[in-house]
Amino acid sequence: MKIHGTHFRTLWLDEGRSSVSVIDQTELPHRFEMVRLGSLDEVARAIVTMVVRGAPLIGVTAAFGVALALREDPSDASLARALATLEATRPTAVNLRWTMKRMAAELGHKSRSERFEAALALAQRLAEEDVAINRAIGEHGFEVFRAIARDKGKDTLQVATHCNAGWLGTVDHGTALAPIYRAHDAGLGIHVFVDETRPRFQGAALTSFELGQHGVPHTIVPDGASAHILRTARVDVVIVGCDRVARNGDTANKIGTYPLALAAMDNGVPFYVALPSRTLDFSLEHGDAIPIEERAAGEVLEVTGVDASGVKRTVRVAAPGANARNPAFDVTPARLVRGFISERGVLDARDLHRLVEPA
Ligand code: MRU
Repeated sequence: MKIHGTHFRTLWLDEGRSSVSVIDQTELPHRFEMVRLGSLDEVARAIVTMVVRGAPLIGVTAAFGVALALREDPSDASLARALATLEATRPTAVNLRWTMKRMAAELGHKSRSERFEAALALAQRLAEEDVAINRAIGEHGFEVFRAIARDKGKDTLQVATHCNAGWLGTVDHGTALAPIYRAHDAGLGIHVFVDETRPRFQGAALTSFELGQHGVPHTIVPDGASAHILRTARVDVVIVGCDRVARNGDTANKIGTYPLALAAMDNGVPFYVALPSRTLDFSLEHGDAIPIEERAAGEVLEVTGVDASGVKRTVRVAAPGANARNPAFDVTPARLVRGFISERGVLDARDLHRLVEPA
């Protein structure tokens, strides 16, 4: 992804291999800053505080966190502590658990002297695979968009999305935004309605930032306006990312996705989920079993932004003493999803088993 004309990924290994650099997403869109993470604890803190976020990026960052822990101490106890610490950072995004299992399987039987190199190699491989998966999702999603444009005889598609499932949520390209970039680059007209995504504003702060950097026309709308927009603005397709999809297709994604899917169904707008295979949790029969992260009430009671002179400020919006709940994700029932756009093509909920079978 290009930022001010320079190509960036969201994380990279630093020279000397003793740290990784990531883009600090808590500072976007106001400041484009990198942070170096040099230890297990720094990586875990960056995930908890959402310096890095988005299911695929959380998984890959955690893989590097394991490698950094093993660089310091390659013992069995150190490996076990790294896996447990990282797995506890964010409960809903299953990519994290998938990655920790993969690391445990590949590193557990290695000798102490091999462990750091093996962990680093695996983390780098997972990062490259993430890029390839997202590129493939972009291709398959582009075909979906092309078909909709052809059927409706439209030059420009109106697309709606929620949260940030763009390159900032992955190593590069994004999942739900990958087809948008692919279509835009291929000359298909695209305009995106971006839900602001309270309470952390991943839509207004992150999706709008990256679409703007890529030159994709878009409009931010309050979350509460999205049903009205679907009803009145001739939206052609909704596409979102996901944090965990159960075997039956029930989909956990950022809070507010479920009402968007309901509104899409009510208005006859096809609702697609961009699903990398490592976000499928085939061990869960349905979405009720997906753990939903509850975050601090302060994220709801306060808002953070920059003032006219560029100074970051947090202000309270609720009355003193007011209480709040802050579930970070909701579950959209499979029946509301038109299709899952995976790296292996567009699948119906009934066909998700294909993603866990050998290619
Ligand atoms: O809390 P976040 O910002 O990590 O939530 C992110 C989402 O819900 C994304 O839609 C999802 O992780 C897909 S990112 C490609």
